[in-house]
Amino acid sequence: MTAAPESVSPRCAVFEVCGGCSRQNLDGGSQLREKQSVLQRRLLEVGGIAAETYALLPPVTGPAWNYRRKARLAVRMVRRKGCVLVGFREKRGNYVTVMEACEVLAHGLAELIRPLRVLLDGLEARETIPQIEVTAGEAQGRAFSPTAALVVRHLRPLNPGDLNRLTEFAVQWSLQMYLQPAGVDSVFRLYPRQGPDRLYYHLPQFGLRLAFHPMDFLQINAAVNRRAVRLVTDLLELEPRDRVLDLFCGLGNFSLPAATICERVTGVEGSADMVARAEENARANGLQNTRFVTADLYRWNTDAPWAVEEYTKILIDPPRSGALETIPLIVASGANKLVYVSCNPETLARDARELARRGFNLKSAGVMDMFPHTSHIESVALFERLPTQQSGQSRT
Ligand SMILES: C[S@@+](CC[C@H](N)C(=O)[O-])C[C@H]1O[C@@H](n2cnc3c(N)ncnc32)[C@H](O)[C@@H]1O
Repeated sequence: MTAAPESVSPRCAVFEVCGGCSRQNLDGGSQLREKQSVLQRRLLEVGGIAAETYALLPPVTGPAWNYRRKARLAVRMVRRKGCVLVGFREKRGNYVTVMEACEVLAHGLAELIRPLRVLLDGLEARETIPQIEVTAGEAQGRAFSPTAALVVRHLRPLNPGDLNRLTEFAVQWSLQMYLQPAGVDSVFRLYPRQGPDRLYYHLPQFGLRLAFHPMDFLQINAAVNRRAVRLVTDLLELEPRDRVLDLFCGLGNFSLPAATICERVTGVEGSADMVARAEENARANGLQNTRFVTADLYRWNTDAPWAVEEYTKILIDPPRSGALETIPLIVASGANKLVYVSCNPETLARDARELARRGFNLKSAGVMDMFPHTSHIESVALFERLPTQQSGQSRT
């Protein structure tokens, strides 16, 4: 029997309106049970995989508040109110929430909401700035360097007065300030003028420091990510003789920890920028047993050297659309263990069905609470190849 969901008073004053969170009215345990239940239902209904046939992993959790280290905040000049609003969009409609603070943004970002409103209110360009991306990195020991970054999208050129005000704000709050005059490729740093345009996070259990650009894909919750990386390497039971393939590897968040244990890791990723970041991170951490490749994993070249090689273990962490197209590659790879990190239980379940049909059974699955207080479900699943070509869990 599962416990009934338990209601609590939302901590945030604008919870009813703000689209940033949707579950603050449920206690943490109920939120997790809800996510587990959605995952198990999807696996059954879409994947044809009954809960009795695999183990439910304990949820990976972290702090429920001030966890979010990256967000896109909307900006809007509201004539009726005579001021600029900065915040998440409302749950309903396209308005920007009137917010003074945020309970889920990471420390260092949450405190910026009110000062950002004041800053933007004072800009000549305040009607032509639609959004600001905010990202928090981690401190670098004793060396001083800004640990958070803002990327200001602006639709018209900024005048010298506005550029000065943005620079002064960056100095005052110890931030890196970036401008985005057009598409994502146009992003450049306004302040500081020197030093690498990077933020950093650490995976201390693996002795790693990873660098990223504020526009890079980044796992949003630092504490849960650390535990997720540990769990993934544990589930794969990595050993020194393993040759690992990490599909959708991003900046090397899983590949580099795996490389501290294994013989060799190959990371494949669609974005050339992210591949460059993974290579930079391997070099900076002194890892020489990695190889990173740029390839579209929905249409890769089946003759590419990395695609025809043998691997012992595979890790995949695809976008919401899942990884159905990679299953022939997984099956041909020789690997017997696969860990699938998913941000969409629907596509995970669909792919689990196909994996089972191709001889990989689901052994265990669980949720990772990457986004507390939202309906977003991040999960992890371990698949193992059946010793013989018997039919798998799901029958089509
Ligand atoms: C959920 S992220 C995971 C990144 C990384 N594993 C991490 O933990 O930071 C998914 C990654 O898939 C990449 N991606 C999206 N579409 C792709 C495609 N068609 N082929 C290859 N990679 C793709 C994105 O650039 C992104 O880095």
